[in-house]
Amino acid sequence: MDYSIETAPLEKLPCDCLIVGVYQDLQLSPSATLLNNSTQALIGKVLSRGDISGKNGETVLLNTIPDSVIERILLVGMGENKPMTAKDYIKVLSAAINSLKKPQIKSVHCTLAEINVDACDWQWKSQKIVEIFSDAAYQYTHTKSDKDTESKVEKIGITAPEHAQAQALAGMEQGRAIAEGVSLAKWLADLPGNICTPAYLAAQALELGGKFAKLSVSILEEADMAALGMGALLSVTRGSRQPAKLITLDYQGGEKNSKPIVLVGKGLTFDAGGISLKPGLGMDEMKYDMCGGAAVLGTLQAAAQMNLPLNIIGLVPASENLPDGDANKPGDIVTSMSGKTIEVLNTDAEGRLILCDTLTYAERYHPDVVIDLATLTGACLVALGRIPSGLLGNDDELCEELLAASETANDSLWRLPLWEEYQELLKSNFADMANIGGKDAGTITAACFLSRFAESFRWAHLDIAGTAWRSGPTKGATGRPVPLLTQYLINRAAFQA
Ligand code: BES
Ligand code: MN
Ligand code: ZN
Repeated sequence: MDYSIETAPLEKLPCDCLIVGVYQDLQLSPSATLLNNSTQALIGKVLSRGDISGKNGETVLLNTIPDSVIERILLVGMGENKPMTAKDYIKVLSAAINSLKKPQIKSVHCTLAEINVDACDWQWKSQKIVEIFSDAAYQYTHTKSDKDTESKVEKIGITAPEHAQAQALAGMEQGRAIAEGVSLAKWLADLPGNICTPAYLAAQALELGGKFAKLSVSILEEADMAALGMGALLSVTRGSRQPAKLITLDYQGGEKNSKPIVLVGKGLTFDAGGISLKPGLGMDEMKYDMCGGAAVLGTLQAAAQMNLPLNIIGLVPASENLPDGDANKPGDIVTSMSGKTIEVLNTDAEGRLILCDTLTYAERYHPDVVIDLATLTGACLVALGRIPSGLLGNDDELCEELLAASETANDSLWRLPLWEEYQELLKSNFADMANIGGKDAGTITAACFLSRFAESFRWAHLDIAGTAWRSGPTKGATGRPVPLLTQYLINRAAFQA
């Protein structure tokens, strides 16, 4: 997708389609007013005829425009003529772009950055246009014969007056970095488990490293992990024929001595549950159990693309979890890199086993903060559904910063308690802890487990089991939480500057 900021008057901007807003009660946005004047009051006629009432998200495509270089106009309803909420604005953008899936429409200009949105500037609005439009244009084609299933828009111009040009441009660049990070994460996640193996993820990370001078990527093999004593991680991969990889992405954009932000992403490329085998229905979706890892790649790509003045480490433990004669068995006890022993009461609680050793490994970077992201518990879906990701952590300030970033990014989070009382549920009669905490509070006990390996740094955990992909007819990865994490990094970079 090709993006630009356009400052020329609308009537001098040829395109296949121009997107303009209209309000309820026959009211026009500034751009709609301008166009109305240059098109023999076309828009006014359509409105007074009642073809569009102006309700939020309603659309009408006008497909012949008299005396104009603009081939078509898409009218989009924006509700009442008053500043709208950020959420309503995003609804409007989605409605607009989703109604333009026609092969003839390749170049689009969007005037909606002029719309008043509560507490949002040109930068934010331009950023959202790029993010939402790119998201809608994403198509998974890797394993389809017909690579062009749906036609798509190729060029987007965001119209802006001269005085807003710089802000709009900054928003466009941030939006582009986030959108491309989201798209990378979605693509990796949508790939099937037989293509996107741990080795494939590692190769993709290495390729990413080749694209940016400040990003270096290295891979730990199973022998390296054994030398480090990563007994928990290695116990999971023993049931798989695909060798596990521990991927490190090292982005050095900041001062040499500034402590890094470490992002840890669960990269379970297929989770069958192991000997505690999952039921068959919907098991295909467990190819998405590497969405945390994919989001780490997407976020590091975005950070490198924006050249953020920060040091960021991405760590992705990548493995499969399959049943096999050599796989973990319920009751097995493994020794983690930290030295703590773990009774594996359920082999399907494997995410925390690969993450705990990675968290211990993160200590060597002397992190400022560590944020892990993982499709960790089905219980998170029960508690929160598919709207917010779950947030738990040992540091209030970090959690507040993540919550603030999630609001700006429209990539929501909801914090759950990580109280001491829950830790008891992980008691084991035979090891330092069990890997499951029983049927109650599954998301919290999973985080409690991780917290025992995150005692030496400020840490937050994002459970993205409900948000990283969609099920049903629109099954597919969402790229979350790349927008939230990238926004957090942008905020951190701004604070530092
Ligand atoms: N990858 C799953 C979590 C998951 C399940 C994500 C469903 C999205 C949808 C994880 O490895 C897992 O299997 N967790 C178990 C933990 C349980 C055994 C304590 C779960 O949630 O059932
Ligand atoms: Mn599992
Ligand atoms: Zn899993």
